[in-house]
Amino acid sequence: MSNENYKGEGVMNIAVFASGKGSNFSAIIKAVKKGSIKASLSLLITDNPKAGALGRAKRAGVKIAMVKREDFSDKKEFEEKIMWHLKESKIDLIVLAGFMRLLGQGLTQQYKNRILNIHPALLPAFKGTQAIKDAFDYGSKVTGVTVHFVDEKMDHGPIILQKHIVIEDKDTPSSLEDKIHKIEHKLYPEAIRLYVEGKLEVQGRRVVIIN
Ligand code: GRF
Repeated sequence: MSNENYKGEGVMNIAVFASGKGSNFSAIIKAVKKGSIKASLSLLITDNPKAGALGRAKRAGVKIAMVKREDFSDKKEFEEKIMWHLKESKIDLIVLAGFMRLLGQGLTQQYKNRILNIHPALLPAFKGTQAIKDAFDYGSKVTGVTVHFVDEKMDHGPIILQKHIVIEDKDTPSSLEDKIHKIEHKLYPEAIRLYVEGKLEVQGRRVVIIN
């Protein structure tokens, strides 16, 4: 792929989609500010007026688009509005960071191999919204973090990076969550950097990292 879909010139425009706290969004803001991701963080899309990500965007001067599902009669209209914002900000790459909605085919097809997601488990294990708790409750000895491309199925697209951690006997759901977030905040900026630098090649389900 090497960003074969990237037809833009100059710096790439990134939109982050977040519904919650936004700690991953914050890690991405830092990486862009530091220059380790050489791209423009152009837009935050959120569906939640209470999202912590909102304050982070304001402080960092990132443009915000509030698109609430309940303002639209169906999912198609909701996503059309999102696509309108993406077009207006000339977005090249979408980064899902705790966006609590499954994207429809309109979006996933239009932005094929241009949407990333982070999941707090080693996919394909523990898909869904409770992955940290599910891995803990299951008694897993190992879990981790996955960054992957997004397709129309939940937590499914080709895997870009994964990192494991050991669940120790002394861990609690909350200590495990802290460990997972620490990993996320390194792994996501790294995956985004690889994408922006054109170092990811999608070969079917496999993503090859070009050196
Ligand atoms: C993260 O654990 C991420 O893996 C999952 O949603 C959570 C978002 O956390 N997709 P935050 O809002 O970035 O703090």
